[in-house]
Amino acid sequence: MNIKEQLAKRAVEVESYLQQCLRDRNIPSRLLEAMEYSLLAGGKRLRPALVMAFARMHGADPEASMPFAAGLELIHTYSLIHDDLPAMDDDDLRRGRPSNHKQFDEATAILAGDGLLTEAFGLMLDAAMEKGLPVRNVLQATSMVAKSAGAAGMVGGQAVDMEFTGRGNVALDELRRMHAMKTGALISASCVGGAILAGARVEDVQAAADYGRNIGVAFQIVDDILDVVGTEAELGKPVGSDEQQGKTTYPTLLGLDESRQLAQGYVDAAVKALAFCEGEDAEFLRELALYIVKRAS
Ligand code: IPE
Ligand code: IPE
Ligand code: MG
Ligand code: MG
Ligand code: MG
Repeated sequence: MNIKEQLAKRAVEVESYLQQCLRDRNIPSRLLEAMEYSLLAGGKRLRPALVMAFARMHGADPEASMPFAAGLELIHTYSLIHDDLPAMDDDDLRRGRPSNHKQFDEATAILAGDGLLTEAFGLMLDAAMEKGLPVRNVLQATSMVAKSAGAAGMVGGQAVDMEFTGRGNVALDELRRMHAMKTGALISASCVGGAILAGARVEDVQAAADYGRNIGVAFQIVDDILDVVGTEAELGKPVGSDEQQGKTTYPTLLGLDESRQLAQGYVDAAVKALAFCEGEDAEFLRELALYIVKRAS
């Protein structure tokens, strides 16, 4: 199985959990429909795959880790719904379907995002409340995710992205910091969260953070490259959106070739961070890092 197939196989396991995790809890039907519309529209399921791989690699029970992994995907999906809103990137296509606000309306899209974000924290705590993982590990991991997804992490990065949009003369180190926050923080939190859930040693949590930070930045550099050279059919979202919105990206600052080389450098650092990890999940994570620069979707 190549790495794309391995990732798809891991996504299938997450998928069946996602399909039922919002059911039977009295969510008004149109709101539930809008939340599931985006949540169950596919997607690579990269963040839950990272949680599960790090958790299992360090000895946590996969079934017990699943609600936490799903929580990360709910947060990510909310961020995509809000990212596409007219007030933000104003994109009409996501995961191969009309964006949430196009299919429903803006108010519903905002609330679907709010709903997914809030439900995510309930799910993450269920790793302890229902699945019996050690309370201390779950609390520590959830607290870390809150900080990473919040105003000093992903939300902060999105705010900086909006400030930079149309501004011009954004410097490379400003762009690097913005990428690390808007995309790197949640990807890194997925890796660190999995390790913490499993009660991994401090040095293993640090390795997860190093790996996650590096693939996170590489992932966003490649996302920017694909916005230039990718296809709408493969990406399931519009291409050329960054240019249209007046975003500064790695390709606009450095060109495509240098951007690719830079992404490769981050990926190499990520692979190095896991040099001392062994087993099937470690191998998957190393290959996944390398795949990030090669991906077309
Ligand atoms: C897109 O994320 C938004 C970024 C953070 C770059 P993904 O490329 O992981 O989107 P899905 O989950 O596969 O749709
Ligand atoms: C989004 O970056 C990062 C998020 C936190 C959602 P982009 O705006 O480049 O993501 P896409 O290209 O729309 O998926
Ligand atoms: Mg954006
Ligand atoms: Mg966008
Ligand atoms: Mg993009």
